[in-house]
Amino acid sequence: MSSDFGSKVVIVNFKAYAEVDGPKAVGLAKACEEVASKTGARIIACPPMVELSAVAGAVDIPVLSQNIDPRKPGSATGWVTPSMVKACGCQGTLINHAEHKVPNETVGQAVAMAHELGLVTVVCANTVEDAKALAEYAPEYIAVEPPELIGGDISVTTADPSIVRDTVQAVKAVNPNVRVLCGAGVKTGKDVSAALSLGADGVLLASGVVKAQDPRAVLEDLVSGL
Ligand code: G3P
Repeated sequence: MSSDFGSKVVIVNFKAYAEVDGPKAVGLAKACEEVASKTGARIIACPPMVELSAVAGAVDIPVLSQNIDPRKPGSATGWVTPSMVKACGCQGTLINHAEHKVPNETVGQAVAMAHELGLVTVVCANTVEDAKALAEYAPEYIAVEPPELIGGDISVTTADPSIVRDTVQAVKAVNPNVRVLCGAGVKTGKDVSAALSLGADGVLLASGVVKAQDPRAVLEDLVSGL
């Protein structure tokens, strides 16, 4: 297992929103960095793949890739290798996001290759059962996100608190070292604090920050819940 980012983390997935196209990705990452240094909170940026080098070169907070493909350097046109993600300056990667699902076997290969390079892995799961199966690969984090709540206005911690509690229990039964995050609809400090109360080590979120008129203000509120 690679050393992780600890508990009480807020991971901001920039996804592929137009709000972070081109240099705007660095702008949002700098906002994350400003709030992290002002508050001491662990905020992690997960920008669009094509902006990884630019963002990792511009900020000191950890940067994650949104995906890696378990391919070696060389004949892998169009794939994103763990090696190139590491070379961009990333400290880790999401794997198996609900919007980028891969077979469990591929998750296992990607986690193993990431760990060979010291990259931290955040594996996403749609359900408690998925999370339990994916915990066998010993990622540093499993992020449970019910797909139907992603991008919505009701936080998973309100709409389905039992999925968070049950995922923590199921994952810890497989491997107590794997930390659990939750996501989908998380937008406020109250949602973050509810996530921690349910046993999660932090949150993975996107639209609440990326689409906000004032991302700094939203981030400050979010980290107040840690
Ligand atoms: O990766 C985070 C994500 O899927 C949740 O999205 O917009 O509901 O915070 P959102």
